[in-house]
Amino acid sequence: MILTTEDARLSLRPWRIDDVASIVRHGNDRAVWANLTDAFPHPYTPADAAAWVAFARAPGDSLLFAVDWAGEAIGGAGVMGEGATGQFGYWLGQAYWGRGIGTKVAWALKAAALASGRFRRLEAPVFAWNTASIRVLEKVGFTRVAGAPRSVTKAGRLCDVVTYAAGF
Ligand SMILES: CC(C)(COP(=O)(O)OP(=O)(O)OC[C@H]1O[C@@H](n2cnc3c(N)ncnc32)[C@H](O)[C@@H]1OP(=O)(O)O)[C@@H](O)C(=O)NCCC(=O)NCCS
Repeated sequence: MILTTEDARLSLRPWRIDDVASIVRHGNDRAVWANLTDAFPHPYTPADAAAWVAFARAPGDSLLFAVDWAGEAIGGAGVMGEGATGQFGYWLGQAYWGRGIGTKVAWALKAAALASGRFRRLEAPVFAWNTASIRVLEKVGFTRVAGAPRSVTKAGRLCDVVTYAAGF
């Protein structure tokens, strides 16, 4: 499945084996890692990227996409889960932040995930400091459903998380 956006340069498409080099280039960045759970490694090595691409090419009931900008994978976006509620997430290489790309990605992913019939509800847990991601979620119609102080360990530190949801 390929999800197009209003910008012809931007789409969400299946992961390809030849994405490894570009996602290492964009993902091996402490500023990206700092806003994701520890499931996203740092340093982010070619072996990490290859393992991710192998997993993401057989996603089961999850929807996992490379964020493609002008032919290059610059990040990832997906909904993971096997039941009615999917975990909604995304990241972009830092060079692409602040241009409205995250908002377009989240719109496309939310619409496709709810239209797919696989998920009735989407949940996005966000570190409380992540204003950009919170704004993205608010702009695409998620609402805050929970705040959980000191509930997730990041780099050995307990961090506050807020959860946004869309759907039923
Ligand atoms: C979160 C992320 C995807 C946002 O993507 P983006 O393309 O930079 O976001 P946009 O340009 O669409 O901006 C969305 C909104 O956030 C605001 N914003 C962007 N960066 C911001 C920042 N550093 N601080 C505060 N607001 C910010 C924008 O102004 C915009 O709001 P507005 O339209 O009201 O002005 C990107 O920063 C990223 O990949 N971060 C690292 C990984 C991550 O945090 N993933 C999400 C985990 S829950």
